[in-house]
Amino acid sequence: MSYQSAETTVEDDFFMKKFKYYKANKPKPSLSAVLFPENVDKQDEIVPTMPNKVHEDPRTRFLGLKTTKEWQTFYFPKRPGLILIKNPFTSIGQRYWIRKCLEIYPRKPNKLNIDIELTLSDWWQECFKNGECNKQLMKKLRWTTLGYHHNWDTKVYTEENKTPFPEDLSELSDVVAKYLGYSSFRAEAAIVNYYHMNSTLSGHTDHSEVNLGAPLFSFSFGQSAIFLLGGKEKSVEPSAILLSSGDIAVMSQEARLCYHAVPKILTASNFPWNENVSSIDNDVPNFKYIADSQVFLSALNENVDDIKWRDFENYVQQSRINMNVRQVLNDNQKYLTDCFINL
Ligand code: OGA
Ligand code: MN
Repeated sequence: MSYQSAETTVEDDFFMKKFKYYKANKPKPSLSAVLFPENVDKQDEIVPTMPNKVHEDPRTRFLGLKTTKEWQTFYFPKRPGLILIKNPFTSIGQRYWIRKCLEIYPRKPNKLNIDIELTLSDWWQECFKNGECNKQLMKKLRWTTLGYHHNWDTKVYTEENKTPFPEDLSELSDVVAKYLGYSSFRAEAAIVNYYHMNSTLSGHTDHSEVNLGAPLFSFSFGQSAIFLLGGKEKSVEPSAILLSSGDIAVMSQEARLCYHAVPKILTASNFPWNENVSSIDNDVPNFKYIADSQVFLSALNENVDDIKWRDFENYVQQSRINMNVRQVLNDNQKYLTDCFINL
C-alpha cells in the first residue's frame, strides 16, 4: 500500500481483485458472499425497505409492470444509495422489453457498436434475412445507444449526437423514478448492453452526465449477472450483487459515482419471461395518463404467442440484456449548450 501517491496501486486495487475472482472459471467462484434476498447468511447486507408515500401509478399495467404495492425493494447498508427492485415486471412485460431491445432499439437512428463495420438500418431483421438465422451477425451486437449518444472515446455528450429518446423507456423510467421519490427525473440517454455468457464489463464510473445528482436506472433481462459495486476509489472492496431477469438496480446519491462492473454472466435459475404468460385485458378506453395506451396494450399482448416469441426466446436463453438509463441535463437545463446556474 502506497500512501504517497493518490493513485491506486496494484496491491490495494481491491476492486480488481474481486473482479478477477468472480470472472474466473477455474476455480469457479463461490456465490456464498453474493447478495440476493434468499441468501440467508447475508440478510444484514440486503435489507427490505419501502419507499415513503407509495402511490399506485396507473401507468404500470401499460408498461408491463406489476402494481407498485407488489414490488419488493431492497437497500444495502454497506452501499448507501444502491437500491434493488426485485423483478417488478409481469412475464409479458419482460417479453415486451426484451423484444424492444432486440427488434426496435437497434434500428436507425440509434447507434450500434457495429456501425463502424457495417451500417444496417435494421439489425434484427438483417439477422433473419433469407429465412435463416445469421448467428455471427447476432453475436456482434454489444451495445445500442439512445437519446444523447454516449461517446465511448471522448465520453462527452453533444447536442449534435442526439436522437429522440424512446417514449416507452422514458415512461418506464419515470414510473420507477416517481416510485422512489424522484419526481423530476428525465430519461435522456441510455445504453442497451448485450452480454453473451462469457462477456464482462470492466470496472468504471459513469460521470459523463452534466447532472450527477440524478439517479441511474439499470434494467436487467435474460440471463443473470454478478454486479460489483464498490466505492469512489478502486481501493474499496466491492459488494457482489446478483441481478436476475426483471431486476432494476438504481444507483443514486453516494452510489451514483461509485465503481461498478459485471465480472460474470450466470445461467438463470428460472425464466420469469415464460411464467404464466397471459394477455392483459385491452378492452379499456384510451387512457389519459399515457399517450396511445391501446398501442401499448396491443404491443404487450403480441408477445403471448410463443411462435412469434421464439426467436427472442432463443436469444435470451444465451444472453443478458441491460438497459442503463440516465438523465444528462440539470433540471433547469434544456440543452447542453444552455448557460445555467444550478441553484
Ligand atoms: C453501464 C453499466 C451494468 C450492467 O452500462 O454503464 O454499468 O448491469 N451496466 O450491465
Ligand atoms: Mn456503468
